[in-house]
Amino acid sequence: MPQPHLRTVVVLAAGEGKRMKSALPKVLHPLLGRTLLGHVLAAAAPLGADRTVVVVGHGADQVGAHLAEVAPGATPVLQAQQLGTGHAVRIALDAVPEAAGTVVVINGDVPLLRPETVAALVEAHEGAGAAATVLAAEVPDPTGLGRIVRDAQGRLAAIVEERDATPEQRALREINAGIYAFDVARLRDALGKLSTDNDQGEEYLTDVFGLLRDAGEPVAVHCAADHVETLGCNDRVELAALRRLLRDRVNEGWMRTGVSILDPHTTWIDVTVTVERDAVIDQNTQLQGATVVGAGALVGPDTTLVDTTVGAGASVVRSHAVGAEVGPEASVGPYAYLRPESRLGRKAKVGTFVETKKAAIGEGSKVPHLSYVGDATIGEHSNIGAATVFVNYDGVKKHHTTIGSHARTGADNMFVAPVRVGDGAYTAAGSVIIADVPPGAMAVARGQQRNVEGWVLRKRSGTAAAEAAQRAREGASESGGAASEGD
Ligand code: UD1
Ligand code: MG
Repeated sequence: MPQPHLRTVVVLAAGEGKRMKSALPKVLHPLLGRTLLGHVLAAAAPLGADRTVVVVGHGADQVGAHLAEVAPGATPVLQAQQLGTGHAVRIALDAVPEAAGTVVVINGDVPLLRPETVAALVEAHEGAGAAATVLAAEVPDPTGLGRIVRDAQGRLAAIVEERDATPEQRALREINAGIYAFDVARLRDALGKLSTDNDQGEEYLTDVFGLLRDAGEPVAVHCAADHVETLGCNDRVELAALRRLLRDRVNEGWMRTGVSILDPHTTWIDVTVTVERDAVIDQNTQLQGATVVGAGALVGPDTTLVDTTVGAGASVVRSHAVGAEVGPEASVGPYAYLRPESRLGRKAKVGTFVETKKAAIGEGSKVPHLSYVGDATIGEHSNIGAATVFVNYDGVKKHHTTIGSHARTGADNMFVAPVRVGDGAYTAAGSVIIADVPPGAMAVARGQQRNVEGWVLRKRSGTAAAEAAQRAREGASESGGAASEGD
């Protein structure tokens, strides 16, 4: 008897995916936050399997390295030559002689599969005490897929690959989704009897169903509620179609939890992202990786956030952020670039054409215009003048700049790190600050202005500038020389 609590998951991922035409193995192609393989593993994770085996072959090193990262508990098993899905499962089971109970086999290229569907398949299989159960779906276009062939009583007779099918079988639209549950002992037995007598000369896992049935074992079909979940991915056109379907699924999920998505067709949210209630996501926005958008925050339009946290009530407009933290009610953009370890406190502002990196910008502090802030700490309620550069790099090493709280730095400053500006200090516009500024001081670090009177008239006579200067002079002398007062 199968023991429901003993489960093994086998993911088949040794194929090359020729039609992807890629240096990357097919199962490593990304799809909204996970690889194809990552999606399949996530769908199987809630089964709580005792062991997960991933059959690797093409790009085994790459796939193995990816597994170590995303599913360190899974065991990669090498299938050096891809002799068919049956062969692949045989090799997988050889690696886990202790496996008992149920084996769930999933093709590595069905990323839209939902955990609930896998769970329902396994439950149906174990509940019926079946030897083998296949997940099936009615699809609009069955081209290239294995067909579910039923007998006169409507029971599963066999699974027939398209290239081996008769014209009548080809007309069937009920297909094998490539996801199965088996009783391990009976599966092992049937795998030992597979032939390669088919159009591809491969050992087909699907032939196990006919073999078991012929031996009088109970085999079953479990129908997927939504055929979209069973869609595989063979080339980049199909991958793009799956991406659109998953985008819609993810966006609908968030909208139903109370998130406004203004243009769902141009909003791409990774499955790994979290968005809280009443957040508004405006058009052309990508939320990726471990990004979290807080309640009531506004993100977009035209914004990409990667591994970025946006606090409640903050706004991030037409910007790009990677590994950043935007505090509650803070404001970013339009046109800002937050690089890793940018941390904005509550109500902080990073404005237009501003780039930040490794920069802590305290509560209420502002960097409103045209600046680069790298390797810096800015205290609270300070204002950084327009067009300021934190000069953090001496050509060899990076150095840190610290600006205190309630400081007011002038426009067009250079802070040549390492340097410190104290609390409540001011700096003059156009200053190149190379030495520490004490709290409350005004630092002026620029050349004295010198006006060379009449230079244009002497050196550029005949130009429009000289003529304008001449007119200004004449106007000034007529009105009593008022214009010369400021000299
Ligand atoms: C398979 C099924 C087909 C089903 C379809 C669903 C078989 C014989 N056919 O066909 O009935 O409708 O999936 O998508 O199983 N793989 C290995 N080692 C191998 C061969 C394949 O690991 O030797 C892996 C592939 O990487 C892939 C999966 O198994 O992830 C399925 O292989 P693929 O070649 O895509 O099978 P299909 O022709 O799609
Ligand atoms: Mg396939």
